[in-house]
Amino acid sequence: MKKKMTVLDFQKYKDEGKKFTYVTAYDYTTASIVNDSESEVILVGDSLGMVMLGYSETAGVTMDDMVHHIKPVVKGAPNTFVVGDMPFGSYNVSCEQAIMNANRLMKETGCDCIKLEGGVEMADKIGAIVKAGIPVMGHIGLTPQTSSQLGGFRIQGGTPESAAQLIEDAKVIEKAGAFSMVVECVPSCVTKALSKAIKVPVLGIGAGPYVDCQVLVTQDLLGMYRDFKPKFVKRFAQIRKSMVEGLNQFHKETLDGTFPSPEYSFNAKVEGY
Ligand code: KIV
Repeated sequence: MKKKMTVLDFQKYKDEGKKFTYVTAYDYTTASIVNDSESEVILVGDSLGMVMLGYSETAGVTMDDMVHHIKPVVKGAPNTFVVGDMPFGSYNVSCEQAIMNANRLMKETGCDCIKLEGGVEMADKIGAIVKAGIPVMGHIGLTPQTSSQLGGFRIQGGTPESAAQLIEDAKVIEKAGAFSMVVECVPSCVTKALSKAIKVPVLGIGAGPYVDCQVLVTQDLLGMYRDFKPKFVKRFAQIRKSMVEGLNQFHKETLDGTFPSPEYSFNAKVEGY
């Protein structure tokens, strides 16, 4: 069984040039499957709004939703580092609000760190949470919670000016104390320059190969989620197809009477019956 990573291991992996992977889970069973795999890190992302709750965006996810979903993941994945995502509106009001909600995620769920979205404009919140003793993972580039402000789910850092701003964001949140950062939907050449500009590990999703860790949503990479497939998603399995086939086989065997056979029935003789 794999050994659980610590916050310090993130930096160690980067310094030693050892790559790792980071995937989502929102429930006990999926967490236990990830725990059995080689993946080192689980994100209970607010993408649960879209993937689990059927919302069209992540902004409606609440702190209660996050607590409800992180708890069973922590239980199901004792050998995997678990990141709890701070939902929209839970940290953008004040440093005090950010600390209180980060405390809540850590205390009520047992996750190993929190993640929040934003660059320069969130540096004070990151600094405050870190000073309160909670490890913070940053998230820059495409930030789904504020995607309407960015003009939708689209590539970021695609012009010299926006690329320079992105690298500035990375430097500032590193200085504020983020121990690692997700970089989402950014051209590979920009991610390469960004990775070189900072010391902490870069966890890339749609950010090309020049990162320390690759991130994907489990339901995307296993071919379970149907509604939307970004360009950067490779489907490494076709689980949805297998699930539909399994359900149809159950339906067929029920209708033709082959299920349940004696093997799947209690065959004890009961007097009078
Ligand atoms: O919520 C999420 O799944 C995320 C990933 C896209 C990194 O933030």
